[in-house]
Formats: sequence, C-alpha cells, structure tokens
Amino acid sequence: MGRSVLVVGGGGREHALCLALSISESIDTIHATPGNAGTHHFGTNHNVSASDIDGLVDLAKRLAVDYVVVGPEAPLCDGLADQLLLSNIPCFGPQQVHAELEGSKLFAKKAMDAAGVPTAEYDVLNASSNINAYLDARSEDPWVIKRDVLAGGKGVVVTSDRSEAIEFIEQSIETDGHVLLERFLPGEEASMLVVMDKSGYVCLPPSQDHKRAYDGDEGPNTGGMGAYCPAPVVTQAIHQKTVERIVEPMHSHLSAMDIPYRGVLYVGLMIDENGDPYVVEFNVRFGDPECQVTLPLIDGDVGELLYGAATDQLSKAVVSFKSQHALTVVLASEGYPKSAVKGRKILGVERSLDTSSTWVSHAGTASDEQGNIVSSGGRVLSVTSVSDSLQNARDLSYARIQQIQLEGSHHRTDIGHRAL
Ligand code: AMP
Ligand code: GLY
Repeated sequence: MGRSVLVVGGGGREHALCLALSISESIDTIHATPGNAGTHHFGTNHNVSASDIDGLVDLAKRLAVDYVVVGPEAPLCDGLADQLLLSNIPCFGPQQVHAELEGSKLFAKKAMDAAGVPTAEYDVLNASSNINAYLDARSEDPWVIKRDVLAGGKGVVVTSDRSEAIEFIEQSIETDGHVLLERFLPGEEASMLVVMDKSGYVCLPPSQDHKRAYDGDEGPNTGGMGAYCPAPVVTQAIHQKTVERIVEPMHSHLSAMDIPYRGVLYVGLMIDENGDPYVVEFNVRFGDPECQVTLPLIDGDVGELLYGAATDQLSKAVVSFKSQHALTVVLASEGYPKSAVKGRKILGVERSLDTSSTWVSHAGTASDEQGNIVSSGGRVLSVTSVSDSLQNARDLSYARIQQIQLEGSHHRTDIGHRAL
C-alpha cells in the first residue's frame, strides 16, 4: 500500500508538488492545506492556514498521514517540523534551527563562514555605525543592503543611489536593530536545489528564475515571473565547483549538527566571469517557480525521494533525470507586484490539466460560489511545458498561455532568453 502525504501551502510550487506526488507510485493519498483550485484535482484541500502551526499538526494527526511536505518557509521558521517530529510525523522541510538559513541573512553568513563556503564579504551595521564610512568603503559597485529578517522578498536593496542606500539602512536599523551591507557580486544567477538529509544529498538540475516583472529583466522585483531548467550557465565544470565548494561543505556542516537538515536547500548562486560560483542566498524550501520546472525532470518517484529525505534514508535513493527541458511562464494579476487586482474570472484553464507535455499550475486561484475559477493572488498561475528542446518547451508554454483569459493580466514574453 502506498503512503499518504499532506502538502502545506497553496501556491504554484505546491501545485507542482501535488502533481509530482500524484504520479509517484509510492503515494496513495494526497492532502493539501490550504491548497488551491489546482491541488484540489489531486486530492483533498483542507482549510488550515499555512501559518497555523498547531492547526497543521492537528490536521496531520487527524489525517494520520505518513509524512508532511512543507512548501513555504514561514511555517518552517515557526517550528512546524519540530512540532511534527514531537508527534512522530516525518517532515520534508527542516527544523527551526536550520530554517534560520533563510530567516536570517546573518545566520546564513555565519554558517557559510563556518563551512568555508564562498559568498560576498559583508559588514553588520547598527545604530552606532558610521554609515557613510561603510558606504565609502564599498563605493566602487552598487551597494547591496540586506535586512536580517524574513521580508517576503522585500528585504534586499541593490542601489547606486547613496540617499536610497542610507534611507534603507537607517529604516532597517530602526526596525531590526542591525542590517547587512554586502560586497556586490557581478555575474549571472542560477538556482540549485539540493535535497538533503543526514545520510546524503541529491542535487537537482540547476534552473534559472526571472525575478524582474518585465521583459529584458526590467521593472520591479517579483517572486519570479518564469523559469527554465536545466540552466546551461551552470556548465559541467561549474556544477562540479558548486558541489565541491558549496554543497559538500554545507552538507558536512549541517549533518554534523545534532539535528540534521531534512528537506531541500535552495542555493541561490552568482556565477562570475571566471566561472566561480558564490552563494547569494539560501532558502530552506523549493523555489517558486523553480519547483515547477525542476520536479518534472526527475525520472522516478518524487514521493519516495521526499519521504527518503524526511526519514534520513536519502543515501539509498537512486535518482536520475530526464534529458529534457522544462520552461514555465507565470501569469500575474493586473498591478502585480505593487498591488494585485483579485477576484476576476479566469477562462481557458481547465482543459489541459492532464496533458503530458504542457499543463497549468495554479497559484493565486480560487473557486467562486458558481464554481468559476477566479484570481486570488498576485501570481495567478503558470504554464509549464516539458520537451526535447528548450525552444520547443518555450513555444508550447507560450501557445498555451495565449488560450488563457484574465482581464488585465500580464506575463513576460522572454522567459529563457539567456539560454536561447
Ligand atoms: P537575496 O534575497 O539575498 O537573494 O537577494 C535578492 C536579489 O538581490 C538576488 O537574487 C540578486 O539578484 C541580488 N543580490 C543579492 N545579493 C547580491 C550581491 N552580493 N551582489 C549582487 N546582487 C545581489
Ligand atoms: N523564485 C525565487 C524564490 O522562490 O525564492
């Protein structure tokens, strides 16, 4: 008999997780909470919020699931994995001590220093610091300023404008007590998702996100407007350096601790002109939309892989990857990312749910009283395709997104441009 699983979260990433679990032979039953109009096709949605830790633990107990897969970072930072383990429920997603790798930039820097992992040099500024002197010392490039809290993607400012830099530094010190000023790293970004537990790790194929709202990487930062996988900027040689200099030392560092890391470590990379990788950030979860393009390239049982990591059995996992390409395009609501118009009817979504090469991942969607699918968030959905070439995957996704109607919505038309 297969396992039952509870997926926590309700975005495009969680839809992609449910889809991958639904085609895993090890999985019988899927629950999602709160889920969305897409996850509902693979199992049962529940109405416990991803921020209600006690409610989530109660739900997992009541459903008697074999394990829990946590999509977003906030419940992990709030100790969801710790609480589940107290009830003997395995959790894919690290415990609170490790979730700090995403929750605190300073914690992540100290972990990288301890593990000897390459990242940008940094200063910690507080109320008694001479801000102008620190800015002078790093004035040859744009200044990179990072708040030391979970800020939902709004905690980093990269700017050459001194007054903007000072304002952000002063505000951050006022609210948080201190702030990080980092050396600017030039280069190209990529994401490497590494599934890990105490016994081992599995590097998933590297991907590339598109964080700016508009074509040509212009406009405001977003949660991610599209992604593709694999990302050719991570050549074989760079992949090897990333494993040797970053993944291996982080895995050794984390698995030497009393509490092992069980889940996925998202390594945000900057690759410089010499092909040397540096860590820009760690996240303690799958990226969204990187998840949508990475999971479909796993050739095998994703449910078994995630359960293995939740139970320290990863060293036994044999994982191979399809030699295909995946690309996803995000459709966003009018006004996103500044403010998003919600509650509008979406047409043209349903019919491709189960095709094997192109599908729609729901993110900010809900069903209204008449059963219509309506928008309920900034990033509404994404269209993912898998094909033998990146160009084909892109053509398929763009052809499919044309069939979807949502008044005022926007999407980028150049996803994959760096690779094509
Ligand atoms: P983070 O939340 O740390 O990933 O930062 C958000 C974005 O800011 C990254 O995706 C990069 O585009 C940019 N960024 C962060 N740190 C640096 C850095 N040291 N040098 C250049 N760009 C950076
Ligand atoms: N797409 C970037 C992230 O999930 O943080």
